[in-house]
Order: sequence, then C-alpha cells, then structure tokens
Amino acid sequence: MTGQDKKEMIYLDRNENNYGPAPKCYDVLKNIDFRRLSWYTRIYEKNAKGELSLRIAHDYNLPEKQVVIGYGGEDLLKSIVHCYLRKDEILFVPAYSWWYYKSIADEMEGITVEYPLYAGDESYYYDIDGFIKLYREKKPKIVFVSSPNNPTGNTLTPEELYTILEELKDTIVVLDEAYAMFKTTDNTYVTEIVNRYPKTVVIRTFSKYYALAGVRIGFALIGNGLDYFEWYSSKYLGYDRINELIALAAMDSMPYYEKITEQMNKDKDMFFNEFKKLPGFKPYRSDGNFMLVDMQKDKMEELNKYLKERGLVVKFMKEKVLNSQMRISIGTQDENRKLINAIKEYAANELK
Ligand SMILES: Cc1ncc(COP(=O)(O)O)c(C=O)c1O
Repeated sequence: MTGQDKKEMIYLDRNENNYGPAPKCYDVLKNIDFRRLSWYTRIYEKNAKGELSLRIAHDYNLPEKQVVIGYGGEDLLKSIVHCYLRKDEILFVPAYSWWYYKSIADEMEGITVEYPLYAGDESYYYDIDGFIKLYREKKPKIVFVSSPNNPTGNTLTPEELYTILEELKDTIVVLDEAYAMFKTTDNTYVTEIVNRYPKTVVIRTFSKYYALAGVRIGFALIGNGLDYFEWYSSKYLGYDRINELIALAAMDSMPYYEKITEQMNKDKDMFFNEFKKLPGFKPYRSDGNFMLVDMQKDKMEELNKYLKERGLVVKFMKEKVLNSQMRISIGTQDENRKLINAIKEYAANELK
C-alpha cells in the first residue's frame, strides 16, 4: 500500500481528545531551550520536586509533597497497587470499569472484587447501599472508585462521594478522575477531600481534557497518611523537563479547553438525541468525553465493519458483562457528524 492509498481513519475508540492540545503547547516545542535536554533540573535548590508539581500544588492549594507526578494516570494506579496490595488481598473495583484495574491487581496476585453499578433509564448509577454492604463483608485493602466511570460515564454525586469516604476512613481509596474536568473545572472539592481523608488519592491526567495522551503525564493528589507511596514515587533526579513545560502551557490555556469542551458537550447531546430516535439503540448520558450506547449484539460485527469501511473506528464492547454496547469517544464536530450520519445510514438500510 502506498501512503496515498492509505485511508485516514477517524479514531473514536480510545477516549482521546481529537481537537489536540492548545497552541501554547506547540510553542513550547518550537521555542525549547535545548539545555533542558542535557541538564537535570536544579529545582531541588528551592526545596521542590518539580515545576509542574509546584504549579499543581499551588492551583489545588496543597503542599507540594502531596502532589505526585506519574507517567500517565496508568502509572500512578499501578504504583499504588504495587505499593499496598499483597497476595490474596482484595482490590475493590466498579463492576463495569476500565479493564486495566483488574490486570494490576492480578500482577500482585491480589483478588479483584467488583461492586455493583446499575443502568437506569438514561444513565448508569453507583449502587451505594450495595457497595457499603459488600465493603463491610469483604474488607478490601484498596478501593478504586472511578468518576466519571469508564465506560459507563456516570459520576458520583458529592453526597455519594462523602458517604463512601466516611465509611472507608481507614481504607486506601483511589478516586480515578481521569475524565473529571469534562464535567467541572472547579477543583476545590478535591482539596477538601484530600485534606479530610488522609488515605485518599485522587488521580488526574493530562491525557484527556488537555489532549496530551501522547505526552504521558498524570498526577495524584494524596492524603497525608500515605507516606510510603510518597516515598516510593519520589524521583531523585526530577521529571521529564520538556513534558513539564508542555503540561504547564496546557494549564495556562483554559479558554481554549473550555471552548472545545463546550462543543464536545453539545455533540454529546446531539448523539444522545439522535440515538434516542434510532430504533435498536439506547444511549446513556455521560460526564466524560465518551458515551455508551446499547445495541443489538448480533449486529455489532456488521456495524463495526460498516463503519471501518467508511474510515470510522469506535469501540465495540466485548467484556464479560458489557458485550452489546458500543462506546463512542466524542471527537471533533466534523468527526461526530460523520459518525452519526454513517450510523443513521446503516440503521436505515440494515435494521429495518
Ligand atoms: C478510567 C481511566 N483512568 C485512567 C486512564 C489513564 O490514562 P493515562 O494513563 O493516559 O493518564 C484511562 C485511560 O483511558 C482511563 O480510562
């Protein structure tokens, strides 16, 4: 195949942000001072860990020691489990959640226990009573909570979050908020929970909202009862000095991100309303940059092929409990229109 024959595919399958990062992020690369490549940071002279952790600490109003930078949220989730979970101990995860959670518990020969979520009419929900009942019975070592949850898209309400954290005061709770900024950029609640619950960790990432998945930067905001994790994750010689600048440039570009998020939210509503009208599909509301849509299981393969032939890739769920849904990542306005038009065309011709 020559380069020209190769079809440009539109990827809406991995919850990336297809608008790309803010222009200031590109400017960092264009204007880089090359000494950054050859020299370690000297920020320790200021008694600090890194430029980015200092800025995050400032913005979240936390001491810098409670900010941990990682190689994406992925790395931080894994580090916490490797730090604290031992053979045959239990990791609690939402029933429908990112498959990776279970795989890191497996690495430690831990046991994954799934707690319940349920599908309402238009949205998924956490079953808080079911969660607490199972928690008391199983006494997990670590609890993962994901909000918004991937792939179901639902978020915990503040009341639900506090109910859980009060009950789990003595347990390590990891709140995976990879997608949280699509719902709100008011982060004051994060500071409040990290201060109130010393064994809580909130995980965030630059991959989703800031459209920097390729740069691999995530951060954890940790309660002050997790000294071992703080020590374990410390980097004596500092962090990637170019990526730190790119992330800082993203944090300085909020108007850009607010604008693209507004458009993505409009398109999410557009998808929801269109799927509502289409026989054979049932969409769920989501607070992330993706949404789950129920469909006929026996049509999944055919629709997948149909879309791929048109250069469109979405995720068709093949998990034990979720296997008759597609998960659509919200792309640019143009990509979203192409996708819904192709699905409508398919439905009109093939689902009569
Ligand atoms: C729920 C959830 N958490 C964390 C991540 C990790 O993302 P990253 O490692 O790129 O920060 C993902 C990625 O898809 C995710 O879906």
